[in-house]
Amino acid sequence: MYDRNSILSMLKKLDIEGGYRDTILDIIISLSKKIDNAFNKLNIESNKLRKAMTHIAFRGKFIRGVYTYLVSTGLGASKESSLTLATAVELYHMASLIHDDIIDHADFRRGVESVHKRFGLEYALIAGDALIIYSNYIVSKLGGEVIRILAESGLKLSDGEALELETGIPDDLEHYNKIVYLKTASFFEGIMISSAHISGNDHLRNLMRELGRYVGFSFQYRDDILDYIGEPSIMGKPKGTDRYKSNILTILIKKYGYTLNEAISKVNDLITIYIDKALNIIKKVDMNIENRNIIIELTNALRVRII
Ligand code: FPP
Ligand code: MG
Repeated sequence: MYDRNSILSMLKKLDIEGGYRDTILDIIISLSKKIDNAFNKLNIESNKLRKAMTHIAFRGKFIRGVYTYLVSTGLGASKESSLTLATAVELYHMASLIHDDIIDHADFRRGVESVHKRFGLEYALIAGDALIIYSNYIVSKLGGEVIRILAESGLKLSDGEALELETGIPDDLEHYNKIVYLKTASFFEGIMISSAHISGNDHLRNLMRELGRYVGFSFQYRDDILDYIGEPSIMGKPKGTDRYKSNILTILIKKYGYTLNEAISKVNDLITIYIDKALNIIKKVDMNIENRNIIIELTNALRVRII
């Protein structure tokens, strides 16, 4: 389980200290309990597999889960269904991180040894597989359409991860953006679309897709900046791991001749544009006012987060 003090210090690094901090804290505690329950119900004989599956579970930012919960409940879904969807989203994400760390040869994740470093490659592969399967099992309660929406994103994630491997440093921003769309933004699209679906708002599908895309791009661009200027002990993972592949700063510096400072400033401008587009959509959609305000706060934090 995630303890209150660890969540508070994480929220501080996310630059969430204002009026909605306590509400977000409560959402993370509820989500953390739900995930813990899901693990407790899991019928698994192998102690090592259980440990590998839960190793990084209660140390993340839960940004995807929190967006899922806020958008779903904001649009009218029950707390219970929203937490179920948010749990499935976080397990899916965790699976992708475990496999991504194998691919990136990354030794640290969320402040601890990565799953393959701690338990070995074999267990990390099985743990990732089991988490995807369990995520599907959990979300099946909400109907086949939700499984389909998340699967569509999952396939794009796989495609993006492979394309990134194939590409090395992309020659231009257009190709880089294709990778970012597939490996990161498509999952945020899935989160927003499935949240609209479980709240009976399929008519918002296109708008939600757009919202997810903008949030996803802001998120990845900030990740790229942190890969250059972040503090590993704060981020809980090493920096510099994607500098030699698809990082927008690397492309601006190596292919477009920017200095590092110019590149950071350009990327910050792009993040601002995406965040503003996301905020315009959030303000347009008819949803619970408190949820809307918290989503605005969370989305603004993507500009400055240090984890
Ligand atoms: C982190 O990227 C990784 C992803 C956003 C997606 C990883 C996707 C897969 C491994 C495909 C398989 C999909 C599933 C659902 C299991 P990063 O390396 O840029 O970020 P990092 O610095 O956090 O490692
Ligand atoms: Mg990685």
